[in-house]
Amino acid sequence: MLLGIDLGTTGVKLVAISEEGNILFKHFESYKLYTPKSGWMEEKPEEWWKAILKALKMATNALDPNAKKITSMALSGQMHGSVFLSEKGEVIRPAILWNDTRSFAQRKEIENRVGKKVLLEKVQNLPLEGFTAPKILWLKENEPENYSKVWKILLPKDYINYKLTGKVVTEYTDASGTALFNVVHRKWSEEVIEKAGLNFEHFPEVVGSTAIIGKISKDVARKTGINPNCVVVAGGADNACGATGAGVVKDGQALVSVGSSGVVLIPTGDPNKRDPAGRLHFFNHTTGKWYNMAVTLSAGLSLRWFKDNFCQEEIKNNKNKDIYDLLVEKAETVPAASEGLLFLPYLNGERTPHMNAKIRGLFTNISIRHTKAHFIRSILEGVAYSLRDCLEVMRKQEMRVEKVRIVGGGAKSKFWLQIMSDILNVEIETLKTNEGPAFGAALIAGVGCGLYKNISDAVKIAVKTSKSIFPTENAQKYDQTYRLYKEFYESTHVLMEKSFDIETKWKH
Ligand code: XUL
Repeated sequence: MLLGIDLGTTGVKLVAISEEGNILFKHFESYKLYTPKSGWMEEKPEEWWKAILKALKMATNALDPNAKKITSMALSGQMHGSVFLSEKGEVIRPAILWNDTRSFAQRKEIENRVGKKVLLEKVQNLPLEGFTAPKILWLKENEPENYSKVWKILLPKDYINYKLTGKVVTEYTDASGTALFNVVHRKWSEEVIEKAGLNFEHFPEVVGSTAIIGKISKDVARKTGINPNCVVVAGGADNACGATGAGVVKDGQALVSVGSSGVVLIPTGDPNKRDPAGRLHFFNHTTGKWYNMAVTLSAGLSLRWFKDNFCQEEIKNNKNKDIYDLLVEKAETVPAASEGLLFLPYLNGERTPHMNAKIRGLFTNISIRHTKAHFIRSILEGVAYSLRDCLEVMRKQEMRVEKVRIVGGGAKSKFWLQIMSDILNVEIETLKTNEGPAFGAALIAGVGCGLYKNISDAVKIAVKTSKSIFPTENAQKYDQTYRLYKEFYESTHVLMEKSFDIETKWKH
């Protein structure tokens, strides 16, 4: 029996699987997201740890007496976040997360100090504010006392691995999201770390995704009931694990993931196959090879924002129904392209293709005919246009995509899947198990302990596809509305940037 745990943004998800990939147990445990200031996103690593201990205990209780058969576990984790550890192994301040945009100035500073050319050559990525490097520089410049206490800097799931085993390590797939790691050669770039004004000593040893870090500590075994001989395998970044769990591990395949953020990911065996301008993220895959990735920041988040703010009545009146199912049913009553209503989902700035933290969302062409149903459909469509933008950047780099596999919360709605197939104009393959990165982490645990020969072997044995969805005649209309969507950005982004500057100037 294998355990996979995904340390996500909204909570931790644990799955126990059999060798064939059958789900034996699953559990979700949420924790708090703190936003002490506008643009700040923080979580407390101690609260992650509490949630993990609880989930492990739930698993051993539910699986008893078979819990003894859990021989290996691995974690997947939200990327880029920084956990600052003191020499005593204590957390110095809350972790700064991937969707935190406070380090806007530090991003520019690193780019100026190191230079775009050196960055693209030595770490193959530009340091977006979401990435780890600017967050560390922010700490150094804004909380020098905290910075002086730092012994090691860990990525979110690596902190949990440290609590499980006492070992301070990271692995390639997560290290690639720091913008301080040479993704092609798989080692920290001393040159970039130094030029950025950071300290090489702060970074942990790096191993492969499927390497065993150690056994769980006696204390953890006692507290959770997990077999003390259970090993902890290094695991991976959530996107790499999501792709692994979906069986997207080699050239010619593609993954779309629709969670809080939306992702288009394409594996490659060739380290030179990447965007020379750095518009795509270029990271290590769990296979030891690489992938190119494009990210839209507010995918599922856009729908959640609308639900939380404008659908309280629907929530109150439909206690026994999934609220997202209800919203999608409303959207289905509206024709394709929402009778002209268009949504640009830049609620928190955007990464691909604009790399612009100052832009915000738009609803355009609102008319007297439009109802709540139109707004919901336009959100589903706006997120799909944004994914199309991601795909187009990849297509320009001659990365061919004819078929994609879809994972994440967004993959649960057949209607949204059809919209995505029409707007992306591709065949969409769904999977029998949609357990996301946690499932991929469980497969990594299986490779680490020798149950599977390697990642490809694990995928062959445990990943099964389900139905395919093909573009309909709506694709043609969407092709035109997509062009309009692009033009709206071009004609409005300067205004959005001005608005951002005014708000920043008058912020209290
Ligand atoms: C990837 C990214 C997000 C997080 C979500 O670059 O920032 O997809 O990994 O957990």
